[in-house]
Amino acid sequence: MKYMGSKARFAKELLPIILKDRKLKQAYLEPFAGGMNMIDKVDGIRIANDQHQELMAIWQALIYDNWDPPKTVSEEKYKHIKYNQSEYPKHLVGYVGFNSFGGKWFAGYRRDKEGKRDYWGEHYRNITKQVPKLEGVQLSCKSYLDLEIPKNSIIYCDPPYESTTKYRDSFDHAQFWDWCRQQSKAGHQVFISEYNASEDFACIWEKDAKTTFSWHAEHSDAKVSVERLFVFDS
Ligand SMILES: C[S@@+](CC[C@H](N)C(=O)[O-])C[C@H]1O[C@@H](n2cnc3c(N)ncnc32)[C@H](O)[C@@H]1O
Repeated sequence: MKYMGSKARFAKELLPIILKDRKLKQAYLEPFAGGMNMIDKVDGIRIANDQHQELMAIWQALIYDNWDPPKTVSEEKYKHIKYNQSEYPKHLVGYVGFNSFGGKWFAGYRRDKEGKRDYWGEHYRNITKQVPKLEGVQLSCKSYLDLEIPKNSIIYCDPPYESTTKYRDSFDHAQFWDWCRQQSKAGHQVFISEYNASEDFACIWEKDAKTTFSWHAEHSDAKVSVERLFVFDS
C-alpha cells in the first residue's frame, strides 16, 4: 500500500540486517506497521500493530474477512465518506481516506488531469497484492506503549519521524526512545528507522534518500535526507 513514510524501497536492504540472527519461532513485531510494506516481506510469527483504527480495520477486513474493496470511488462519494465517516464501516473509511492527495489522510480527491492514471485501480491493485503475503499476521491496534511483547522478540520500529509531517496525533519522541532503551534492556532486538538518534544509539545502516514525505517536499524539489537504522548501544 502506498503509505506516507513507507519503507518499501528500503526493505531489501533493511530486512537482511534486521532478520540476520532470527531464531526459529522468534516473533517479529512492528509497533508502527502502517502500510505493511516491511512486514509483508517477513515470514514466521509476525505481529503488526498500528494505533490508527481505520488503517487496521482495512487490514482486518482484507486479510480475515474476505473483503473485496471498491475498484473505484467517485469524487462525490469520497466527499460524502470524508464528512460522514460514522455512517460507513471503518475499513471503507480507511481505504478511501488513504487514497488521497499525497497519501495524506483525506487530504483531497486524487484526480489526473490528463486522464492517464487510474488512481483507484492502482490503490486496489497495490493493496490486494499484499493480502496473500499477510496471511497469518497477528493484528493489533493500540499505542506501542501498551503492547504485550513476546519474550526475545525482534522489534522493528518505523515511527513518525521527528520534524516531518505530523500524523493525526502528536508523538512524544523522547518517550519513544526511552521505550526503545527499555525494550532492548529487556532482551528484545530493537531496530529503529529514523534520520537521527541520541548518542546511546548506534547507526548500523544509512542511505541517502529523496523524500516525498513532508508537505514541503511534495511541493518543491524532492529534498534529500539520510535514512538510518539504529540499535541501542548501551
Ligand atoms: C512511518 S509510518 C509507518 C510506515 C510503514 N513502516 C510502512 O512501510 O508502510 C508510522 C506509523 O506510526 C503510527 N503511529 C503513530 N503514533 C503511534 C503510536 N503511539 N502507537 C502506534 N502507532 C503509531 C501511524 O499511524 C503510522 O502508521
